[in-house]
Amino acid sequence: MKKAWQLINSSLLCLSIMASTTGSAHAAKVVLASGAVGKDIEVLKKLVKPWEQRTGNTLAVLPMPSSTTDQFSQYRLWLAAGNPDIDVYQTDVTWAPQLADNFVDLTPYTKDIVAQNFPSIIASQTTNGRLVALPIFTDAPALYYRKDLLEKYHKAVPKTWQELTATAKYIQTKERETGHPDMWGFVWQGSAYEGLTCNALEWIKSYGGGQIVEADGTISINNPKAVAALNMAKSWIGNISPEGVLAYKEEESRGVWQTGNAVFMRNWPYAYALGNGDDSAIKNKFGIAPLPSGGGNNKSAATLGGWNLAVSKYSKHKEAAISLVKFLASKEVQKYRALHSSNLPTIISLYDDQDINQQEPFIAQWKNVFLHAVPRPSAPTKIKYNEVSSKFFSAVHDTLAGSGSAKDNLELLEYELQTLKGNHW
Ligand code: GLC
Repeated sequence: MKKAWQLINSSLLCLSIMASTTGSAHAAKVVLASGAVGKDIEVLKKLVKPWEQRTGNTLAVLPMPSSTTDQFSQYRLWLAAGNPDIDVYQTDVTWAPQLADNFVDLTPYTKDIVAQNFPSIIASQTTNGRLVALPIFTDAPALYYRKDLLEKYHKAVPKTWQELTATAKYIQTKERETGHPDMWGFVWQGSAYEGLTCNALEWIKSYGGGQIVEADGTISINNPKAVAALNMAKSWIGNISPEGVLAYKEEESRGVWQTGNAVFMRNWPYAYALGNGDDSAIKNKFGIAPLPSGGGNNKSAATLGGWNLAVSKYSKHKEAAISLVKFLASKEVQKYRALHSSNLPTIISLYDDQDINQQEPFIAQWKNVFLHAVPRPSAPTKIKYNEVSSKFFSAVHDTLAGSGSAKDNLELLEYELQTLKGNHW
């Protein structure tokens, strides 16, 4: 139960936040720690201007490493030390249960806006009844394909991984023969980090091999379909994907793709707007489709991603920080991000927004993809999720790099996960 002073404190905070929307006497510099891809930071600095003008507060962005795994480790250290210098953290969809205790419960401050969002996204950021972060965009990956090259070689957009492998190889070979020596068939994220967990979960799930740890907590990863999925991915290395893919994160794969050197790419929606930018070699030359499936009755699988903002319990500027988070999660800002960064909104009504539908029509199509996306097992494994993911991506990376077979590595992984689980997650 809350103590009386805590109740008084939170109602005072509520009132002053309301006041801060009309201007605050005590201007604050709010520090936001955030990872970034593409032009994220540039866009953020631009779109925050109206909030800075209205409140008199300023935003300072603390850029984080591009690997979400590295971001998480750094956040965990700062939060464990009660770091008062960072007010707001941009958090991945899977982090809420692990970092919850360090963040302010946003429930009392967001009563007017939470219902605008997809309930499943709000639920993913709610731990023990506390809303620990407010969503700013959701994420579900796509298969990016070169429309011009598929047309040139009379090939269809692949529906299965087998088709993708064959088409990628065919076009890569033909293009190399006709003066494009740097052309690759397929680029994706193979570095040993959270992004590989997302890629490999998609291969395995779309082969009917489960989702590493199932919703009821069962460890399912050691099975023949998962082995087959990993063997397929291993066959790509040095064949349709460069050896270097084992060190690629999102931006490295986008670099190869956007300079016109790949037939296919697996990436998140942010790469869509950038690919159509004026400085892009493939502007208007590509399309997107759901990722392929493992064939047979199997369905395509997309890993659910997404980003949120959390206010640190150790912040000295909570009032300003909460006002910033509400602003960055607002409908106007989500619309701006959809139009300029092709980020998927978490606000339901934006999927019927005329400007978005005209300028970025894929966003409305992607609603169905993210609503059916596969969650990583962060809910069943709770505070152990990051260790689960790191053991999983290490086993996958070893397999892809030729260190141990898929079968042996998944058997070992199962054992490690059982030990980590103990009697319960
Ligand atoms: C994207 C997703 C995020 C995921 C990350 C992996 O940023 O939105 O959820 O963890 O990619 O690299």
